[in-house]
Amino acid sequence: MISLTDKVALVTGGGMGIGRAICQAYAEAGARVAVADFNAQSGQQTVQLIKDAGGDAIFIEADVSDESAVQTMVQSTVEQLGGLHAACNSAAVSRGSGPIHEYTREVFDSTLEMCLTNTWLCMKYEIAAMLEHNQGAETLGSIVNISSNASLKGQAYNTAYASAKAGVNVLTQSSASEYGGKGIRINAVSPGVIRTPGIENYLKEQPHQAEIFDRASVMKRMGKPEEIANAVVFLSSDRASFITGQILSVDGGMSVK
Ligand SMILES: NC(=O)c1ccc[n+]([C@@H]2O[C@H](COP(=O)([O-])OP(=O)(O)OC[C@H]3O[C@@H](n4cnc5c(N)ncnc54)[C@H](O)[C@@H]3O)[C@@H](O)[C@H]2O)c1
Repeated sequence: MISLTDKVALVTGGGMGIGRAICQAYAEAGARVAVADFNAQSGQQTVQLIKDAGGDAIFIEADVSDESAVQTMVQSTVEQLGGLHAACNSAAVSRGSGPIHEYTREVFDSTLEMCLTNTWLCMKYEIAAMLEHNQGAETLGSIVNISSNASLKGQAYNTAYASAKAGVNVLTQSSASEYGGKGIRINAVSPGVIRTPGIENYLKEQPHQAEIFDRASVMKRMGKPEEIANAVVFLSSDRASFITGQILSVDGGMSVK
């Protein structure tokens, strides 16, 4: 069993969907978890779920597009939980952009900010905290960014999101090169189609899409949030001690179809 006992983990976007499952999986592995989200109600629900299951978690309200909020989020994690060893940047907002000649620059810029710039901003402060507080440890920390399979081969009518997530991949690879020698491992997990509450709501409006989503993977089904979370916990743990700079698709084989 993978153990993160005595470790502190921070998850952005921990209030819902994949982020919530990651918080729960970190807690199940024994980590003390900082659940960060700009939605206080759902973030606190995640904390309650963890506590009900016997885990340890706090909620930090933060909009990760606001630099001072990100700085405070990381600082509060260190102060309240006693350090920062694992961070998972999952917060993002995905909205289809449509054909390039029909959508505005505002859509492109804001998607880049919500998916890529915010991830960079979180990494900036997470890395600084790991370098400052974990000196002397064999591993200073591990960061996992949540990408998307839309980034791998591009995705029609989703160009802004796909470009932003491709940026997350290169950000992950470049920063892994910078910090590997300093003891920080940085990877990304690239989900296929995952049955989150957001996808469930979409399927209520567009039920015919369920079969299309199922057929997108070679396993003929959508993924579960906990299947993404399991990969994140593995990459955050010492079991992945020689893995850095990788983009791991967790997609039921969608990327090889
Ligand atoms: N669901 C999928 O099928 C799928 C597929 C590929 C990639 N992803 C990626 O997985 C991650 C999680 O996706 P999800 O489907 O669980 O999303 P979701 O919309 O269900 O949850 C996102 C969470 O992030 C929070 N959030 C968003 N922007 C924030 C901000 N600026 N500051 C703080 N909190 C913020 C939201 O409040 C919400 O709790 C995202 O990075 C998404 O791009 C999802």
